[in-house]
Amino acid sequence: MSRKYTPFIFLLLFAMLLAACGGSADEPEATDTDSADTAADTTEDTADEAMDEEMADEEMAQTVEVFSWWTGGGEAAGLEAMIEVFAEKYPDIEFENAAVAGGAGTNARAVLATRLQAGDAPDSWQGHAGQELIGTYVAADQLEPVNFLFEENGWLDVMPETLIPLISQDGNIYSVPVNIHRANVLWYNPTVLSENGIDVPTSLDEWFAAMDALQAAGMDAPLAMGEQWTAMHLFETVLLASLGPDGYEALWDGSGDWGSADVTAALEDFAKVLTYVNSDASALTWQDASQLVVNGDAAFNVMGDWAEGYFREIGFEPNSGYGWAAVPGTGGNFQFLSDSFVLPKGAPHRDAAIAWLTVAGSIEGQDAFNPVKGSIPARSDADRSLYGEYLLSAMDDWASNRVVGSLTHGVVANDAFKSEIDTALGLFLADGNIEGFQSALVAACASSGPCQ
Ligand code: GAL
Repeated sequence: MSRKYTPFIFLLLFAMLLAACGGSADEPEATDTDSADTAADTTEDTADEAMDEEMADEEMAQTVEVFSWWTGGGEAAGLEAMIEVFAEKYPDIEFENAAVAGGAGTNARAVLATRLQAGDAPDSWQGHAGQELIGTYVAADQLEPVNFLFEENGWLDVMPETLIPLISQDGNIYSVPVNIHRANVLWYNPTVLSENGIDVPTSLDEWFAAMDALQAAGMDAPLAMGEQWTAMHLFETVLLASLGPDGYEALWDGSGDWGSADVTAALEDFAKVLTYVNSDASALTWQDASQLVVNGDAAFNVMGDWAEGYFREIGFEPNSGYGWAAVPGTGGNFQFLSDSFVLPKGAPHRDAAIAWLTVAGSIEGQDAFNPVKGSIPARSDADRSLYGEYLLSAMDDWASNRVVGSLTHGVVANDAFKSEIDTALGLFLADGNIEGFQSALVAACASSGPCQ
């Protein structure tokens, strides 16, 4: 018998004893004295309270608090779809959605850090495969390995080989990937392009020429951008376009030189790209910026493919409402990121967290979540018939392209390095000083990146 039932059993025995000694706790006799009545009532109340506490404890044990930043714009709908699968499989576990709004987790991750510092971990949280996971949470010893889940569920046979090393250290696997997103997507408005006689650009030069033509035709800001993390997102795709995949990867493994002339040229490309961007970018969310494209107020936006989930949610159709291509100069490369869920050390409801992770890694969970979220499943055995035209093209590209990692979404840099890059970027967005930007990047790599 579980120890937590013991006080309740004692109370029950005590009540039965009292009843046997001259009065039932349930049905006091008419002849009972007031004090016997009071004693029986008190006993009954105490027993009820104990039972309530017991039930509250039971309820607590049947809750799972899951932390993410999926609160709107197609993302919440994707999460809801997976929660439905969870509710079917685990009807006794209450799902507590602890999502904190803000694209790319900028707000959520700050809230999470405060909670972790205060010893108030949720049962599971969203984390990106790669350095965000390994160089941040695993480095801080905050996670339990989940190899047992991979073994029990046969996930090693269905999860991509490219992904496993990014969620592992020393043979331990630390998260359950739920999807693959593509970062280097150019979303465009097909009507705006065709009305202006512009072909979808495939190189940076073609892109600049297209945006020059649009500006000449009266569109001031042909490229829509939002708040600072979307500038970092744009930046990583231009680095890839300008440096190529080898040069880009070398920046993150320590073999490249952030001070090189090639990087200067990439920063110049980025500075030029920014000349086509809306002046109110810092006040816009990623959804606002995406919307400028489908509304025809801008021709282009560079955003991960969660934008596709959003376009569909607000009623636009692929090809007519929005088109897509690799960011110019990055064709043949799939700049990826993967959302995954973790099992924290000391999860308040560990069993319930394991139930959640089991759904997150399952085919049912992934095939419910991803078609709505606008991502492809991490698993390779998805039911393709559930996915729309864009996502089918992403699946094919994922299988055939060169795969490189995203900076903004946690693959190539840990939090410390990324945050120094972010500070340097913020200054550059304000002052436009390329030389200062490059020296700050060199310094960031030396102080917290692979150049240490
Ligand atoms: C990314 C995350 C995506 C999506 C995006 C925008 O970091 O991996 O799933 O949520 O932010 O919020």
